[in-house]
Amino acid sequence: MLTINGKTLRVPIIQGGMGIGVSLGNLAGHVMKEGGMGVISAAQPGYREPDFFTNTFHANLRALKAEIAKARAISQGQGLLGVNLMVAGERYDEYATAIADMDIDVIISGAGLPLELPKFAENKPVALAPIVSSAKAAYLLCKRWFSRYARYPDFIVIEGPLAGGHLGFSWDELKAKTTQSLQEIFTEVKVVLKDLGLNIPLVPAGGIYTGSDIAEFINEGASAVQMATRFIATEECDAHPAFKAQFIAANESDIDLVISPSGYPGRAIINPHVQALRQGRIAPIRCVKCLKPCIPATTPYCITEALIQSVSGNVDHGLVFTGVNGYRITSIVKVHDLINELVTEMELSLS
Ligand SMILES: Cc1cc2nc3c(=O)[nH]c(=O)nc-3n(C[C@H](O)[C@H](O)[C@H](O)COP(=O)(O)O)c2cc1C
Repeated sequence: MLTINGKTLRVPIIQGGMGIGVSLGNLAGHVMKEGGMGVISAAQPGYREPDFFTNTFHANLRALKAEIAKARAISQGQGLLGVNLMVAGERYDEYATAIADMDIDVIISGAGLPLELPKFAENKPVALAPIVSSAKAAYLLCKRWFSRYARYPDFIVIEGPLAGGHLGFSWDELKAKTTQSLQEIFTEVKVVLKDLGLNIPLVPAGGIYTGSDIAEFINEGASAVQMATRFIATEECDAHPAFKAQFIAANESDIDLVISPSGYPGRAIINPHVQALRQGRIAPIRCVKCLKPCIPATTPYCITEALIQSVSGNVDHGLVFTGVNGYRITSIVKVHDLINELVTEMELSLS
């Protein structure tokens, strides 16, 4: 079981952060209310603020605080609350410093290795959790955090090749399906941490879909799992209903890799936007300087624009990220019922 600052998760499920705007206060709060960990994405949460395009940083922080307050109110004191912050994002240091002071339990940080994250949370009670996709990354991060900041991660999310959003593997490896599996990476991380004499809670992610999937990892020593795609198909998910409907309509063959201005491959539903991209560049019309690696003059498309379009319901002109299992979704359910189903299945598989 995962315990953070003395609070133990009753349900060993972390709802993965989903940007832009897919996991905000409503989804996170309802997951918390059921005893899990809700995670709000810090990727442009202020996209609906009137000054988003002129005053992006402040609009995002203002919206994030409001979403955190909303999640706390919905949760009725249950569960834990995290914020997901992408290392590849611009002004990472300033966002991390501001978020570390907010009313949350943990910062979860990936899309790059958060080697300096502890610097921004020094002397603050917030827990810190990196997302890694290899044992080598876990090793490097633990060594660095201890030597520079005398601390270790409070838990580590291990994200495998079947996840949604940006992926920490090369395009060629993913296409050829030659990456290590989540199970293999998880086993290697356990060995590396044991060699270092560390007992850090581990949270696998990517392609975990059923309660028996959860049980498999809990049996192998995971403290919890992180799941994202399944939470999109809930009434409480913060995305537009048209975004959720894409999942019900999708077949297995509709899900594939897409290029991203982040430099990492992404996984998405192949919709008219992705098809248009495959024909050529979609030049950006405005820029909020969202990702460090993006060069607006040459970027294949604007990812902030594409994600805002999709989450707002204009799905044909936007990017719909998904894990490999997105096509298995057949209906929109309540978070309460989803978590009940998962926990019941998990308990049956554990016994
Ligand atoms: C729509 C969508 C958006 C995502 N956005 C982010 C993000 O902003 N930051 C991040 O670290 N991970 C992001 N992810 C990854 C998830 O947090 C999660 O780790 C992963 O999708 C787990 O795999 P699953 O979807 O198969 O459960 C996203 C995933 C999806 C499906």
